[in-house]
Amino acid sequence: MRRLLVTGGAGFIGSNFVHHVIDNTDLHVTVLDKLTYAGNLRSLDGLPGDRFAFVQGDIADAALVDSLFGDADAVVHYAAESHNDNSLHDPRPFLDTNIVGTYTLLEAARRHGTRFHHISTDEVYGDLELDDPARFTETTPYNPSSPYSSTKAGSDLLVRAWVRSFGVQATISNCSNNYGPYQHVEKFIPRQITNVIRGIRPKLYGAGENVRDWIHADDHSSAVLTILERGRIGETYLIGADGERSNKEVVELILEEMGQPRDAYDHVTDRAGHDLRYAIDSTKLRTELGWMPAYSDFESGLGATIAWYRDHEDWWAPAKDETEAFYASKGQ
Ligand code: NAD
Ligand code: DAU
Repeated sequence: MRRLLVTGGAGFIGSNFVHHVIDNTDLHVTVLDKLTYAGNLRSLDGLPGDRFAFVQGDIADAALVDSLFGDADAVVHYAAESHNDNSLHDPRPFLDTNIVGTYTLLEAARRHGTRFHHISTDEVYGDLELDDPARFTETTPYNPSSPYSSTKAGSDLLVRAWVRSFGVQATISNCSNNYGPYQHVEKFIPRQITNVIRGIRPKLYGAGENVRDWIHADDHSSAVLTILERGRIGETYLIGADGERSNKEVVELILEEMGQPRDAYDHVTDRAGHDLRYAIDSTKLRTELGWMPAYSDFESGLGATIAWYRDHEDWWAPAKDETEAFYASKGQ
């Protein structure tokens, strides 16, 4: 394996993965990204020209995808419409990219016999009760709640069908909530950090009791590289770092770390259908493939993320006003 094609590599997790691969392997990386509102070429600044190439385009463009698969030994598929709130207001792009886009890539993988890794989410499993001791495993039944998570669930099922029916050499990973550098300001953690920097009070949906299982994006990248190198074809691996926190706890940590009173936030209109709790059991990945997260301490990872947003206002400022205007129009 010498040449990787990474779809969605100008987005949050994709760009973290590209930096991780360039820093930790000798692979050549080509990124295919449409540069939607969520893509940012500046997230790929500083990569070496002799090991990195960028192609702007749509994963649903079959001719373009076919030409790029011809030059790739393996494909890692991150490209997606990724934001639940957007999917509640305008689901159509989620169907086009997450379903039709993934189908287009799978057909190319089938034609070219290319190794394919599909990036997915723990949200395909629905949610858990707050007091349930259970966590998601690879055998938890699918039960998605939102237009976003249902299109991700659909894309996972397409991958499984293309493995079984057409022999496509694919693996799937379902990861929990990521945090770290290069995350769009529409998402929970960067929204609150950049709100505090701008003097705006953080916004908590509903009572703030919902729980997410946080993992640093760099740990997600090391897990994906491990699966690409050693994962068994046709298998699904859950990725998580035991980072369960309620949204209220996260907002309070951000405020404390940024020198503000811990209660200086507002409760706003809750998200429709808001999943209560996600929690990942990543035993299979850890025992079968020997993967371990490097960021065992959420508080220090969050501190480093706050520092990154403080130092990179030029990266996030262009999207901030429009994002807040959108939320304000929804009472959030
Ligand atoms: P993101 O929204 O930050 O980035 C998505 C990227 O895909 C952008 O660069 C965008 O331009 C590109 N893109 C969108 N539509 C495209 C198309 N039709 N053709 C080509 N490129 C297109 O998303 P993210 O948070 O980095 O998520 C990346 C992947 O990881 C997604 O598949 C998501 O479901 C999955 N995931 C995300 C999380 C999380 O916490 N953010 C957790 C688990 C899994
Ligand atoms: O679990 C993995 C998923 O994590 C990924 O599949 C998605 O692509 C990713 O966006 C993320 O989904 P969430 O909906 O959990 O993330 P979001 O950052 O939108 O919200 C995290 C939690 O914070 C959620 O319970 C909603 C809440 N929230 C969000 C925003 C933007 C707030 O309380 N206030 C906010 O302003």
